Amino acid sequence: MSYPYQIKTLEGYKSDYQKSVEDPEEFWGNIAESFTWQKKWDKVLDWNFKEPSIKWFQGGKLNITENCLDRHLEKNGNTPAIIWESNDPDEHHRVLTYKELHFKVVQFANVLKNNGVKKGDRVCVYMGMIPELAIATLACARIGAVHSVIFGGFSAQAIADRLEDAKSEFIITCDGAYRGAKDIPLKSVIDDALVGNHTIKKVIVCTRTRTPVSMIKGRDVWWEDEIKKVETHGNPDCPAEMMDAEDILFILYTSGSTGKPKGVVHTVAGYMIWANYTFVNVFQYQQGQIHFCTADIGWITGHSYILYGPLSAGGTSLIFEGVPTWPDAGRFWDVVDKFKVNILYTAPTAIRSLMGFGLEYVNGKDLSSLKVLGSVGEPINEEAWHWFHKNIGKEKCPIVDTWWQTETGGVMISNIADVTPSKPSFATLPLPGIQPCLVDENGVEIEGNNVSGNLCIKFPWPGIIRTTYNDHERCRQTYFSTYENKYFTGDGCSRDEIGNYRITGRVDDVLNVSGHRIGTAEVENAINMHAGVIESAVVGYPHDIKGQGIYAYVIYDGSHGDANLSKQDIIQTVSRIIGPIAKPDKIQFVPGLPKTRSGKIMRRILRKIAEGDTSNLGDTSTLLDPSLVDIIKEGRI
Ligand code: WTA
Repeated sequence: MSYPYQIKTLEGYKSDYQKSVEDPEEFWGNIAESFTWQKKWDKVLDWNFKEPSIKWFQGGKLNITENCLDRHLEKNGNTPAIIWESNDPDEHHRVLTYKELHFKVVQFANVLKNNGVKKGDRVCVYMGMIPELAIATLACARIGAVHSVIFGGFSAQAIADRLEDAKSEFIITCDGAYRGAKDIPLKSVIDDALVGNHTIKKVIVCTRTRTPVSMIKGRDVWWEDEIKKVETHGNPDCPAEMMDAEDILFILYTSGSTGKPKGVVHTVAGYMIWANYTFVNVFQYQQGQIHFCTADIGWITGHSYILYGPLSAGGTSLIFEGVPTWPDAGRFWDVVDKFKVNILYTAPTAIRSLMGFGLEYVNGKDLSSLKVLGSVGEPINEEAWHWFHKNIGKEKCPIVDTWWQTETGGVMISNIADVTPSKPSFATLPLPGIQPCLVDENGVEIEGNNVSGNLCIKFPWPGIIRTTYNDHERCRQTYFSTYENKYFTGDGCSRDEIGNYRITGRVDDVLNVSGHRIGTAEVENAINMHAGVIESAVVGYPHDIKGQGIYAYVIYDGSHGDANLSKQDIIQTVSRIIGPIAKPDKIQFVPGLPKTRSGKIMRRILRKIAEGDTSNLGDTSTLLDPSLVDIIKEGRI
């Protein structure tokens, strides 16, 4: 497969960028010609940020799985689409060619139909990182069902919230999942999530760990049994459902600064083109290369750069079930060596953690197949950048520092491998189609270079969020109302003397822990569920490996016994309500929280204390009880 829109030179980047800004419709219309449509679009773009209403390729009809599977069959049918490496290094790996993946997706699409799933229905997918997760997701897309993939680390309560919000009627899960030394009993978590649920009609359970599970008659069915049914009775084909360009492809829940996580909605055509365009360009993917994105498919990075980007490009995508540190801290490098991986895309937190184990786990591994390295999820600090560059890339692989968000669908600001220059800790330049700007607190655009402000985007790109599921107003308020006529990212950012962008982190109450977005309000709500807790406030603090750690200030009713045990209980509560990723790293019991007279918690002060920077806490005179600050300072952990 060739990619006529692949940028090859710095001049090419500059001229494509120019064209994308001067005539976006012409630019994206040309690119869209390279995809398979059942009916061509009438209009490339129709938009306003006020409502917001954003429509790409209106009138066009297509199915993303025809673009990810069918169109590769003739020439690349025997090319590996997915290579799967087990958690257990001794278990044999699996390879699915495009022909085989197509066959399995079509087969499972028929299973979904047999179980009553129809176009537009929401299907929750809660599985480990096995090929069946890719098959389940693509099968939903095949029949036009909306997938909502939930990361295997989320708790029953978090799943229950997401099921309710999406009004899902179907779940696809596994008996369990392997992650390093742990077995996660996925089906049993689903059973807990379904206590009191009346909307779920079917749960399809795929066998992985053979963990004992209880199957509810009439509701729960085995994946393998259902496959047998379509094998013997079913139609071996499943024509791709004809979808409108703006039909929903998936919902993916992500945390914000208030309330419960929101369901970010992406639609078929724009998302597909954006995932493909950014994949082919940022990583400079060449046909035949092996792309290893280490994210979980439960996050947007996995959606875009394990599934839809690589598969729409006819590429080979490596799915790894395990974790970087098991059986030892050399596992990534073993995988690279074993499969001769060409592109490795991972997160700074993984790099920092592996860095800490020392070079003995890297030495002796053949990493010479690597051509491009990538980083995503949080700012990459210079030390980690240099370690990655020197010891993994052997100073010959570019590192693409890709800035983007669940809401943006794909990479927005990044260097392009071997095409545009990198600069450690800078995401560098916007991709074609992306018009970033920095604004001050009043929403006034800050022009020129060597400046910093809040990062906004002025013009729609094909992969932009369309709505938050079932609550369009929340989408408008969160992203399009802070600054008029701009999409607000929630990130702070600076621009250097030649226009390179450097993301400095969130400016809202969202934490980034090991590259995972967690809202402080969400953690506080979970902590407050604990019987002994009166009130709490959560802030982030710098953490060597996770990037940010979670620091919780808790007003606790001391009559409930031992303080350390109580802290353990609070941590357990958070784990139960959200999942282990949201567990506080530090809990400090405090007699009160620093509040203004109007009752607002002064988080700035709490943040500074958590960071250990207590020399200048700024003006505390507006506090209701300024003496609290000294007590909190003294009790710092
Ligand atoms: C942060 C992950 C600095 C940022 C794809 C953003 C980054 C949030 C980078 C989105 C990067 C992501 N440099 N910060 N290269 N990439 N971020 O939705 O704060 O899980 O707003 O999407 O991660 O996280 P999300």
